[in-house]
Amino acid sequence: MQQIRASVADEFEAVNRLIVEQLHSDVDMVENVGHYIVDAGGKRLRPLLALLCGAALGGCTERHIAFAAIIEFIHTATLLHDDVVDISTLRRGRPTANAEFGNAPSVLVGDFLYTRAFQLMVTLEDMDILRHMADTTNTIAEGEVLQLVRAGNPDTTEADYLEVITRKTAILFAAACYGAAALSGQPEQERQRLADYGLNLGIAFQMIDDVLDYEGDPATMGKNVGDDLTEGKVTLPLIHVMENGTQEERTLVREAIASKSAGRLADVVAAVQRCGSCDFTREQARRYHDQALGCLQGIPSGPAREALLAITALSIQRDH
Ligand code: IPE
Ligand code: IPE
Ligand code: MG
Ligand code: MG
Repeated sequence: MQQIRASVADEFEAVNRLIVEQLHSDVDMVENVGHYIVDAGGKRLRPLLALLCGAALGGCTERHIAFAAIIEFIHTATLLHDDVVDISTLRRGRPTANAEFGNAPSVLVGDFLYTRAFQLMVTLEDMDILRHMADTTNTIAEGEVLQLVRAGNPDTTEADYLEVITRKTAILFAAACYGAAALSGQPEQERQRLADYGLNLGIAFQMIDDVLDYEGDPATMGKNVGDDLTEGKVTLPLIHVMENGTQEERTLVREAIASKSAGRLADVVAAVQRCGSCDFTREQARRYHDQALGCLQGIPSGPAREALLAITALSIQRDH
């Protein structure tokens, strides 16, 4: 990760400083909850993408730095809300903000971060980016609602799953790249090509996240395993078991989804493993990874392009 950051190390530090600066509020609770999640770290993958796209397209400006911070604010807001909705207890190796402070502070400080992102965006004075980010955040919200509606439904298809992960996750990766290209003065076609890069990368990234929910190590991930099953969330590993498992395995998974219970998590993990469902999901992630790489073909060679290639590889090789 450090190597990936090297070509934009100063800009990356500037983003981190800006994030901390913009957490400022007269209301103590905003700062307490905000710092609690921000100081826990996180990979900062999305701001890094924005910086690297800027660097690859002629240079990272102050505006790219502000935009990268905006993207991370939006991401952090979705995490605060997501952990309430998912009733998650562990994030970034710490108790979640909802576990530490309660649901209400998490929801409200999430709103603060969302709106602070838009305050910062206004300072960019770029109507196209503002429109694009308004659409993006609206789509993320829809994606989370769609996922909620489909939770507990074992008839959810692979296409349904793809629709949810595109909306809830991939679209923000796409926006990080689109906005950076826009700030670099790229024409619409080039912006769109980079947005496609981010979209494919984001899909691959979420697929691996869904694998890690069954196969990961909580100590490494900083998140619990089995959360998805508790929510009745129908992810690709489970869809694969329901299509390829024995009758017994299919019934086991269908019932676990319908009852939104991780009571039989060990049996479900065994079925996922026996069916090779995580390997299948990884193969699908690789397809999106390859498509993402294809979108980078026109990017001029140099350290930023190399870092983008590395971050793309990391998105499917990661263990946290
Ligand atoms: C978590 O994203 C939410 C998903 C879209 C899976 P990250 O894995 O990028 O979270 P942090 O920021 O590194 O904690
Ligand atoms: C992450 O969803 C997507 C958003 C936060 C919008 P998940 O619920 O799958 O991610 P984790 O596993 O909690 O990080
Ligand atoms: Mg979650
Ligand atoms: Mg969720």
